[in-house]
Amino acid sequence: MCGIVGYIGSRQAYPIIIKGLKRLEYRGYDSAGIALIDGDLKVYKKKGKVAELEEILIGKDLQGNVGIGHTRWATHGEPSDRNAHPHISNSNNLSMIHNGIIENYVQIKNELLKNGYSFSSDTDTEVLLNFIEDIKENNNSTLEEALRFALKRIVGAYCILLIDKDDPQTIIAARKGSPLVIGIGKNEHFLASDASPIIEYTKEVVYVNDYEIAIVRADELILKNLGNEKQTPFITKLDMELAAIEKSGYDHFMLKEIFEQPQTIYDCLRGRLDAEKGTITMSGIQQYAEQIINANRIIMIACGTSWHAGLVAEYIFEELCRIPVEVEYASEFRYRNPVINKGDVIIAISQSGETADTLVAIETAKEQGAIILGVLNVVGSSIARKSHAGAYTHAGPEIGVASTKAFTAQLAVLTMIALKIARAKNTIDEERYFLLCKELMEIPDKVALVLKQNDNVKALAEKYKNADDFLYLGRGYNFAVALEGALKLKEISYIHAEGYPAAEMKHGPIALVDENLPVVFVATKDSYHQKIVSNMQEIKARKGKVISIITEGDVVSPTLSDDVIILPTADEIVAPMLSVIPLQLLAYYIGIAKGYDVDKPRNLAKSVTVE
Ligand code: F6R
Repeated sequence: MCGIVGYIGSRQAYPIIIKGLKRLEYRGYDSAGIALIDGDLKVYKKKGKVAELEEILIGKDLQGNVGIGHTRWATHGEPSDRNAHPHISNSNNLSMIHNGIIENYVQIKNELLKNGYSFSSDTDTEVLLNFIEDIKENNNSTLEEALRFALKRIVGAYCILLIDKDDPQTIIAARKGSPLVIGIGKNEHFLASDASPIIEYTKEVVYVNDYEIAIVRADELILKNLGNEKQTPFITKLDMELAAIEKSGYDHFMLKEIFEQPQTIYDCLRGRLDAEKGTITMSGIQQYAEQIINANRIIMIACGTSWHAGLVAEYIFEELCRIPVEVEYASEFRYRNPVINKGDVIIAISQSGETADTLVAIETAKEQGAIILGVLNVVGSSIARKSHAGAYTHAGPEIGVASTKAFTAQLAVLTMIALKIARAKNTIDEERYFLLCKELMEIPDKVALVLKQNDNVKALAEKYKNADDFLYLGRGYNFAVALEGALKLKEISYIHAEGYPAAEMKHGPIALVDENLPVVFVATKDSYHQKIVSNMQEIKARKGKVISIITEGDVVSPTLSDDVIILPTADEIVAPMLSVIPLQLLAYYIGIAKGYDVDKPRNLAKSVTVE
């Protein structure tokens, strides 16, 4: 949460920073701001999106070869101009941006108030900044020393960039828990929360580790730990193209990412699954195959959409591998003192690889002897670095705040892992194994067929856009898809939606059904199909509006439905990768019809790096 950008070199910093902030805006868009040094320290900030900041900057002095910029997802203090970053210290010399939370800021603030400091915002960031200044002034220390001392005192998570009017040749950065990437150019450096603001200028980057401080000058990058010992920067080559983070002619990233799914799922399978030979090559998983086969249980840990992928995977793993699986919300798991036994296998599922709750949950489990496998999209992310091994989803950068292509790629990876383990464990017969490999390989083409329903889904969106509530129902593998469909609708169109196991309706929620309630049935052909048709009948009998997502050849469901979306046939294990697509489109088009910013829904941010 919150995006940060910095530049130091011989170019003008402003255009680089503003462009970088736009690329990072998915991380938060409550306010934006920029600080530049050019003799003077100039700070400009504004509530709202980066475009609103840009507007107020027309005609302003934006000169400077060093600068820092921030796009905020508010934690402490409401979204407002005064709470926007960068903050300025009491002496007016230092300026800082921050992504994270300082938990003990109240105590430090009280100490600073006693020392005569005043505050012009409600943020924890301004407290940390003045704390650093206070240490610097009182101990006559350098900024770097003062920062090191301050970081040892604070509790919480941070990625900060700090500049000093009196030392315009340096940006000092530090991280713990919130990501920081430094791009290495020719006599210039770029700093950012992820690589997207950097790839345009250089592909050589250093991922800063927790508890490291970076002293960044145009021609020099020094990394130190909090003990003041120099660390060797490990340079990584970015494997990402600029086109991957642009809209490529689509109106929104969300739509682009929905339509990318035939390719992203293919990219995820490519080089791993050979359906004809029946081989699945996943070296990270292979390394831990024995432990997975012998595991007493697997625990999937994730949040939001990634949690839904875990829920589908629970059904798949239990069916194919006969290993008990628990699916945990990372935020609950980490706080409830869970029982973890040595040898438990944890699969952390995360698009960003930075979700704070998931990160801490796996750290706790790892300390207790669990094996941590990551199913992650962002290479080099914090969770990737904390995991023993895993498999990347290769979906490419997901920029729309609502997760779409990451979900289907997670399902593809998790299905491959389950198939690989099931075969090694002998819990699947060869015929079914080969059939499922083939089914999986056919998914990209089938997703392309589902996307041809785009106009039908758009028409549905127009028809139902004014509903106040929606229900999404599914059974078995499609239960989690129903939850995911409801989540997509809530976050993009702000319509209240609930996902439910279809059979649970009778235990309460059916009381909600009347002629105004659209009920989306995720009812593709599977072992439970007859059952869900009965559930459809129950809704129809109570005059609910039935929208069903069904498989071609199903002649019964259309007779019970007001509207249908027809999907190609697929085995029930892989069907969620198809049935979720119309639900993603439905949420998108209803959001558009209501005039909302679907790529940046209100109150949300892409990367939840605070708990
Ligand atoms: C919903 C959505 C979120 C994320 C969740 C976990 O569309 O995007 O629910 O799925 O915040 O994020 P990751 O997968 O990055 O850990």
